[in-house]
Amino acid sequence: RERRVLALSGSLREGSHNTALLRAAGKLAPSGVSITPWDGLADVPMYHADLDTAAPPEPVRALRHEIANADALLLATPEYNASVPAVLKNAIDWASTAADASRLAGKPIAILGASPGALGTARAQLALRQILAAVGAEVVAKPEVIVFHAHERFDERGELADGLTRTLLAGLLAALADRVGPKLSEHDVLQT
Ligand code: FNR
Repeated sequence: RERRVLALSGSLREGSHNTALLRAAGKLAPSGVSITPWDGLADVPMYHADLDTAAPPEPVRALRHEIANADALLLATPEYNASVPAVLKNAIDWASTAADASRLAGKPIAILGASPGALGTARAQLALRQILAAVGAEVVAKPEVIVFHAHERFDERGELADGLTRTLLAGLLAALADRVGPKLSEHDVLQT
């Protein structure tokens, strides 16, 4: 069975380096692994406990559905003021309170990030690891994909052109695929 990785970018802008990294990941994924980007984060409202009912807002239901259907997540984070952008934190907050399979607890997750600066999202990724530890996700430790001077690593078509970054990204995806492993389908379970 194809293993499905849901890819979320913490940047909503059209020319995002982080979203471009996820596009590159789609082409570097090991065989048997599909990377599915989801661009619905812009529509997810700010977390609001009064809306967190059995019938949450439609974009929240869509987000939770995507997570439930994913074997693993790939999260690309920009760094905003030395931390995770609100868009990504908000999505994690909504997912963390889900009562069903859309929770992040136990979910294999790989993180990466790109910034034009010299620190390349190192601080945002540290903050993201702390948040993901709090929700009980299984975060891949290595390789760290910290893409500093991001604007120098893409060609004019927005393709990831930097060899070292491509190698690290491929390594991260392989490590994530190892975490997911060959999973029994519901069908296999019924056969035993
Ligand atoms: C930034 N940026 C930024 N960069 C960084 O390396 N460290 C930081 O702390 C910050 N802080 C920050 C705050 C805010 C509010 C904004 C809007 C931006 C710059 C940021 O890395 C840059 O905009 C990236 O290009 C964002 O990623 P995308 O959109 O290219 O994916």
